[in-house]
Order: sequence, then C-alpha cells, then structure tokens
Amino acid sequence: MATATITELPAWKALSDHYQKIDRLHLRELFAQDPRRGERLTVEAAGLYLDYSKNRITDETIALLLQLAEQAGLHARIDAMFGGEKINVSENRAVLHVALRAPKEQSILVDGEDVVPGVHRVLDRMTTFSNRVRSGAWRGHTGKPIRNIVNIGIGGSDLGPVMAYEALKHYSDRAMTFRFVSNVDGTDFAEAIRDLDPAGTLFIVSSKTFTTLETMTNARSARTWSLSGLGGDEASVAKHFVAVSTNAKEVTSFGIDAANMFGFWDWVGGRYSMDSAIGLSTMLAIGPDNFRIMLAGFHEIDEHFRTAPFERNMPVLMGLLAIWHNNFFGAQTVAVLPYEQYLKRFPAYLQQLTMESNGKHVTLEGDALGYDTGPVYWGEPGTNGQHSFYQLIHQGTRLIPCDFIAFHKTLNRLGEQHDMLLANVFAQGEALAFGKTADEVRAEGSPDWLVPHRVFEGNRPSNTILLEQLTPATLGKLVALYEHSVFTQGVIWHIDSFDQWGVELGKVLAQRIIPELTNEAESKFCHDSSTNALIRRHRTFREQPR
Ligand code: F6P
Repeated sequence: MATATITELPAWKALSDHYQKIDRLHLRELFAQDPRRGERLTVEAAGLYLDYSKNRITDETIALLLQLAEQAGLHARIDAMFGGEKINVSENRAVLHVALRAPKEQSILVDGEDVVPGVHRVLDRMTTFSNRVRSGAWRGHTGKPIRNIVNIGIGGSDLGPVMAYEALKHYSDRAMTFRFVSNVDGTDFAEAIRDLDPAGTLFIVSSKTFTTLETMTNARSARTWSLSGLGGDEASVAKHFVAVSTNAKEVTSFGIDAANMFGFWDWVGGRYSMDSAIGLSTMLAIGPDNFRIMLAGFHEIDEHFRTAPFERNMPVLMGLLAIWHNNFFGAQTVAVLPYEQYLKRFPAYLQQLTMESNGKHVTLEGDALGYDTGPVYWGEPGTNGQHSFYQLIHQGTRLIPCDFIAFHKTLNRLGEQHDMLLANVFAQGEALAFGKTADEVRAEGSPDWLVPHRVFEGNRPSNTILLEQLTPATLGKLVALYEHSVFTQGVIWHIDSFDQWGVELGKVLAQRIIPELTNEAESKFCHDSSTNALIRRHRTFREQPR
C-alpha cells in the first residue's frame, strides 16, 4: 500500500457500511440461518483447527476483510518479510525469524548473504553444548556435573524461554532444575538461587544487546554468588557462565569467553527469538531432537502462511478478525484462554509479542494514525479464569473477543478430568455466543425481579483453536500462528511491528534517577514536583535502619 491511510481504502469503507448492517445481528440468528455454519467457518492447517464461526461475521464480512488484505498489499509484505527485505524501517533491519526455522537446504538472502547456513551452525553448536551438559560431560569448576540451569534475561530473552520451558515440561529432563531470572528486583534472583549449589549451577546470560540494565545487573549478582560459592577463582566463570547475544564485544568485556557465546542476528527481534539461541535453556530442558521438532512445527506454519490462499490462511484469518473486532466493534482487549495448564505462561508471552509489536501510534512513514492499533492481550489458563474474570466477559458492558485454545489429548490422564476440561472450553464458547434470554430464564422459574440479573445477552465473539496434543511441534505451530497473525494486523494498520521505541524513555529516565536515589549528598532534583517528592521520600526511608 502507498502512504494513503487504510481508512481510505475501498474495502475499509465497505466494511464500515457493512458493520452498520450487521452490528445488530445476533449469533443466534446467524447460526439459525445456516445450520452448517459451525462446520463451514473453520479452517484446518498443519494439524491446527480454527473454528471462527462464533464471530459476528457473515460471508460478506470475510469477503470484505479478504479484500482489505489484498488492498493493503499483504501478499507483497509477506514476500518482503520472507525475502529478507528491511521491513523494520525505523531500525533499518530485515525481519527474519522465519529463517531461524528454515531447513538447511533453503536459502534466504540478507544484503546478498545467505543467512541459513549461519543459523544451522549455531544450532549445531547449541546441540553439542546441550548434549555435553545433559550427559554430564560438561563439568563445573569443582568437577561436579551441571544439574541447575538459570536463564538470566528479560522481555524476549526471558518470556519465550520460560513459556517454552513450562509448556514443554513434560518433555524435559526432570533430573535437571530450570530457573528464570528477569526482574531487577533482587528478590527474583535471591529466590531463584536460594536452594541451588553453585558447583552444579550454570547461568545462561541471555541478552540480544548485552546492555540491558536488568539482565546485566542480575548477571553481575550471579557472578558474585557463583564466585563466592566456588572459592573466588575467576577461572570458574568459564565453566558456569555462557552467553546468548548478538554483541560479542560486550560478552567478552563481561568476562565470558567468546567460545561460550551463542550468537544470533539483528534481524531477530527479541520477542521473535525463542527459536534462536535464546532458546538454549529450552534445548537443554527438552533435548536437541525435540528442539528441532519444535522448529519444524514453526516452519510448517511459516509455509502455510507464505503459500495458502488468504481465505484458507489461518494466521491471515485470525489477523483480519482481530482488525474487525478492534477497528469496527471498538473492542479494546483480547482474552487468550488456553485450556492447558502447561500453557500457563502463554498469555504473558503473547503480551510482549502482540503489544510490543503492534502498540504503535504512527504509520511506517511516521504520520499520526487516525485509527486504533494493537488491543490489550491478557489471559489465564482455563478453568481458573472462569471463576475469576469470566463474569465480566459474559455479562459486563465491554466486548471482549476470546481465543480459546485446547488439546484433544492430555499429557496427564486422570480419570475423566480431560473431558471435563474440554466440556468447559466448549461450554464457554457456546455461552458467550448464544447467552440465555429472559424467556429462558423465566422458564427456569426465576422470579421476575431476578430475571435481568440472570440474563446473558450473548453475541460475544470467540475463536476456538484445537490441536491434537501439546508437543514441541504443536507449540512451535501455535507460536508461529500468533506471530503471523500479529504481522497481518501490523500490515493492515501500516505500522512497524518490529521496533519498540516506546520502552526507551522509561529506561533513560531510570538511569538518571538511580544515582539520585543512591548518592550520599542531597542534590537538587530537576524533575516535576511529584517525581522529586517521591525521590525525597524514598531517600528518607532507605536511610532509616530497619
Ligand atoms: O523491553 C525492550 C526490549 O528491547 C525487548 O524488545 C527485548 O526483548 C528486551 O528489551 C530485552 O532486550 P535484550 O535481549 O537486548 O536484553
């Protein structure tokens, strides 16, 4: 698309008119009119099944949304991403997380250089290292095998690894302990290592830039803890610290041997990096073979996204439905509700993927937007959310589209519990869509005064994503599905989904405030009166004895 705003595209205008027509249509009517709707408005790809029939759409809505994708130039943007073009314009970088899972024989050029061989060289080094640690061949400074892995990182250098570890715990080596430290709050580090033996503990310092305040601070604390537990011998660092980074210079100056560094590239965004060397903790947990199976899962969805016609393209359809809810219904949030306990960190992972990518206020050219971009993503695993915030989704005044995610087979069969779980996820989608009318409530014998309280208006949209079982491959597919849905949305909104300037200002101001909190001498603070007063108050309290 040229620089014309998306709201001027014919399909956008047609969607605005169409919205006026169908806004009042109820899902009850839509399902009554078409008995096969629940089978028709579905798509299956790479073992994933998406039922999008419980959205407030007609065939015309889908046709118009597909036209919008065409008019916004989605085909060309997909080709540009897969072709290694510098589509991250504000940072002048290619966006090639898809290269991280490309098979050896594929070739992807960036500035004339094929990046795929480099990806496989790093994977091979990670494999050798993981095998040595897992088998006990890699020994700590005292000769003990490594049994504890602590990943230190934040944002994309933490959320992907911790989510993947939790998601794939079933496949992990249970003789090993995995911890994840991210917060600059010292409690995070202190609790992570309190029961660990330094002689059997390896730290992975994961940071794309190797300059992030939180990660470098925690890495220094880890170094002090490790050294003091190992007799202070600096030579021990080589056995107990490895780094994952794009910044070899900073890694070496921190004291980690470049031989113990696993690299990646500036064309991998932090929130798109769990399948790069940032996934070293994942590989250590589940083993190199399972890690490669996960990559193959990612790749299957990459190929589907790249080649499937838009009307059968799962990430494209999900992305377009997200636009429909966000920009036409004015929905401000999306709830992601995995009915799978192992996916308990998936919503937190998705928050960075979706909101750091699409929380943008200007177009690719830097012009102010006249429409909303990324909604707020949030969620909890089912069924816990049902006993907490689902009340608002069912009967509150806001429209909250939901993504339900479930698996046909459990990894932990306990009597009928898995069928109960699935019954719950299906019931929630049904209740949201169809609700309960006043007549139905009355027919159940409710007194008149209670009827309004017990009515569910319904007509609340949801997607249901079904997979066979949670495996390394299905996790890869699920993550790739959301990555490409986020991309689709960003293309329609005509924004840069791959920069994150919005996190910079707070970082800079914190660096300015740190010495103001810790300097002995009272200096003149030059902030606003609120920030100055908060600083003074903290100084007073921090100096008082406990
Ligand atoms: O919060 C901003 C951010 O740059 C994220 O995009 C990134 O994932 C995170 O910080 C960590 O950055 P790094 O891996 O460079 O330490």
